[in-house]
Amino acid sequence: MKAFGIKRYGKKVALQAAEIPDPEMRNDDVLIQVHAAGVNVLDSKIKNGEFKLILPYKPPLTLGHDVAGIVIKTGARVRQFKVGDEVYARPADHRIGTFAEFISVSEKDVALKPNNLTMVEAASIPLVGLTAWQVLIEKAHLQIGQKVFIQAGSGGVGTFAIQLAKHLGATVATTTSAANINLVKSLGADVVIDYKKEHFETILHDYDVVLNSQDNKTLEKSLRVLKPGGKLISISGPPDPEFAVEIKAPWFVKQVMRVLSLGTKRKAKRRDISFSFLFMKASGSQLRQITPLIESGAIRPVIDKVFPFASTNDALAYVESGRAKGKVVIKVL
Ligand SMILES: NC(=O)c1ccc[n+]([C@@H]2O[C@H](COP(=O)([O-])OP(=O)(O)OC[C@H]3O[C@@H](n4cnc5c(N)ncnc54)[C@H](OP(=O)(O)O)[C@@H]3O)[C@@H](O)[C@H]2O)c1
Repeated sequence: MKAFGIKRYGKKVALQAAEIPDPEMRNDDVLIQVHAAGVNVLDSKIKNGEFKLILPYKPPLTLGHDVAGIVIKTGARVRQFKVGDEVYARPADHRIGTFAEFISVSEKDVALKPNNLTMVEAASIPLVGLTAWQVLIEKAHLQIGQKVFIQAGSGGVGTFAIQLAKHLGATVATTTSAANINLVKSLGADVVIDYKKEHFETILHDYDVVLNSQDNKTLEKSLRVLKPGGKLISISGPPDPEFAVEIKAPWFVKQVMRVLSLGTKRKAKRRDISFSFLFMKASGSQLRQITPLIESGAIRPVIDKVFPFASTNDALAYVESGRAKGKVVIKVL
């Protein structure tokens, strides 16, 4: 099959198109013919080698973390899916590779595609949808009437997280630049801050939850936005020792993460705020809970650009520009 991947890590390394063997299947896998693949910042970070500590992949490696497609084969122990099912998924870490014609995915990571979405739209959802779900529902336990600050509301995570937080009944503040103000308002954001002109930490007060997706300075300023008892949840680092335990990282990695997160943890503690790092996980059961929100219209996909399979490198470069309004998707079939 044809696939896009890397033979070695590097910032200047482009993905190479290669003919590689069809995926091997385990008993609990479904083999998916890829129709569309979502592109994520994570693909770029892995390519650059920035994620070696957390995900020690050994190239050659096919990239791609989001898929929508059709089940064309099922493993002997698969119970939930049959050949012909239209599905979407974020394959588990160490089993990625959706920039390809086929991928085998454990059935526990797969869900039936929302019936009102095209393949391209469905492929835009899993990684960012699960991230928002795991931050706002699993970790923050966001409640009706609470206030949440979601940074970068016009990005892949932001466009989904705003809609999910509004569905949960929260008041949502977000940052974006002038060109995207109407977009984030149309998604339901109540307070919109143009980060190029205003300082969010002087405008927002007494928030219950912050979803941090930006740099360390933004993380530090976010502490000032939260009320005592509030939760600062970062998806852009620094990773903390609890996360090291979760991924069963070696002892020295845990120590590195302790050092990296120590300053933020201390400052948070002084303000009676809990800080945690979250790295999203594959989950078919959570995707199944997201599906009805999409089918009912509570959450809609936001897609900026669609690229043909042959232009996978252009799609990745566009994501790397940091200017995407919502998601970037590769149409494979
Ligand atoms: N830990 C996890 O599990 C996890 C999961 C998903 C993503 N992430 C991380 O979260 C980050 C965001 O991911 P993403 O997919 O949402 O990225 P993205 O879609 O590439 O974000 C692009 C958007 O960010 C906005 N933006 C850029 N700089 C900004 C700033 N300083 N303030 C506010 N908005 C800004 C841009 O809007 P303008 O053009 O208006 O500037 C653009 O619309 C990445 O670092 C990614 O690796 C982590």
